[in-house]
Amino acid sequence: MSNFDIIIIGSGPGGYVAAIRCAQLGMKTAVIEKYNTLGGTCLNVGCIPSKALLDSSEHYHNATHSFAEHGVDVKEVKANIKQMIKRKNDVVSQTCDGVKFLMDKNDITVFTGLGSIVDKTTVKVVGSDKKETLLQTKNILIATGSKPNFFPGMEPDKKRIITSTEALNLAEIPKKILVIGAGVIGLELGSVFNRLGTQIDVVEFAPTITPTMDKTMTKELTKVLKKSGFKFHLQHKVQKVINTGKGVKLVALNKKNEEVTMEADYCLVAVGRKPYTDGLGLENVGLSTNDRGQVEVNENLQTSVPNIFAIGDVIKGAMLAHKASDEGIYVAEFLAGQKPHINYNLIPGVVYTWPEVASVGKTEDELIAEKKGIKVGLFPIKALGRARASMDIMGTVKIIADAETDEVLGVHMIAPRAADLIMEAVVAMEYRASAEDIARICHPHPSYSEAVKEAAMAATEDRAMHI
Ligand code: FAD
Ligand code: NAI
Repeated sequence: MSNFDIIIIGSGPGGYVAAIRCAQLGMKTAVIEKYNTLGGTCLNVGCIPSKALLDSSEHYHNATHSFAEHGVDVKEVKANIKQMIKRKNDVVSQTCDGVKFLMDKNDITVFTGLGSIVDKTTVKVVGSDKKETLLQTKNILIATGSKPNFFPGMEPDKKRIITSTEALNLAEIPKKILVIGAGVIGLELGSVFNRLGTQIDVVEFAPTITPTMDKTMTKELTKVLKKSGFKFHLQHKVQKVINTGKGVKLVALNKKNEEVTMEADYCLVAVGRKPYTDGLGLENVGLSTNDRGQVEVNENLQTSVPNIFAIGDVIKGAMLAHKASDEGIYVAEFLAGQKPHINYNLIPGVVYTWPEVASVGKTEDELIAEKKGIKVGLFPIKALGRARASMDIMGTVKIIADAETDEVLGVHMIAPRAADLIMEAVVAMEYRASAEDIARICHPHPSYSEAVKEAAMAATEDRAMHI
């Protein structure tokens, strides 16, 4: 039996990053992954392929909508979905190969097969050939991630009633897709197909899209998406979806409790994800999951069995790749006797629509509910010279600061490349900057980042300049 310092079950951005950090810190490390490629949901069927298709569809959209005004005349622009999917697959395989390279470079042993916990120091791997391997280890890290969730009546058949995984591989541009759930997946993958010409109808059970987002962003994003052709059916409770052979039929109850029927080519079920622990053998060490299916951990990401840890989508908190990775690093450094830290209030969230939406810290509603005295600074993207130059004029930056101390408590933005712009706010907030601090920092001109400075000026004495 091989002996390891740590065995990590799952090779997503939580597991593989944890493995690299453990190896860097001198631990004899193994990773077990049940699929043939490393990288988990994020690299194979999540972050990377969705962004590849978002970028391709954005190029097509620009070619058909804004090239002419920029003075770039192109004839017969066509969306070639097969090539888009091929390029996406190439990006995925290069990225997954990169993880394999990193495992080899760091002397990390990779086992392919289903990993399960036999007892607190023994892990079993069962390969696709049913061959069993027993491994001995000092520590175990559960990084098994999540799977798409669904509710009764909307069970995906993976043909017409699909999850994000199948949507990322559609070999055609459908005329119409019904999306259940106006969350991140629904709006991102809806955007891909909307840009390619598909009618996107979103059925959402809450009164707004992206219900947990800051309300200014929700309002602005709704406007942007409606303008591009999305239709939203809010406060609709889905009763059932059926595959009619050539398409789907969805029955929902609207807010007046009337039955509404909708038809389309496909139905994308995007109502959240659930932690994945099937076949993991938690019961063999007296562990179980909570009512949300999550593995419970303490502040050091340790389960009630002290040498077994868990990170990422399988535990509480935002289901985000960067959160999973930071937790992986935390566990490695904790085991090495260091004093790592994660500021869970400062994990940025991004929705990769166009413009992108990004946020960090608290929303205005959360701060109002906490009865915190706040001041809010807003600045519209269209007032920027950079925005007019590029013709990307939609969006707003919002900075919320403490009314008394001026400390920045939340930054929310809908803006071109907001995923990158938000990092200024994350750094500022990590160092507990005031809005005045951001307002006094010199920002390059012309740039989208000037909207952050202007919003900070708006939050302090209402002194934004270019509005
Ligand atoms: P996962 O990435 O789910 O990896 C878990 C791995 O464990 C899997 O490979 C699985 O096969 C393996 N596994 C499970 N059980 C076993 C077992 N018993 N034995 C062996 N192996 C096992 N997040 C972002 O931050 N940004 C984005 O842009 C983004 N886009 C997304 C787009 C889509 C369409 C989806 C679905 C998700 C997206 N996410 C995004 C979320 C992100 O993918 C997850 O938060 C992230 O992958 C979680 O990482 P993880 O390591 O916890 O788990
Ligand atoms: P989500 O939690 O973002 O959105 C789910 C939506 O479905 C919510 O608006 C919810 O109100 C709605 N809903 C729930 N039940 C419903 C029902 N019965 N009928 C109609 N609507 C219903 O979940 P989503 O979009 O599936 O994404 C899963 C996870 O993946 C998210 O937690 C997210 O963090 C992660 N992800 C992150 C991305 C990013 O960072 N850019 C991109 C894609 C996914």
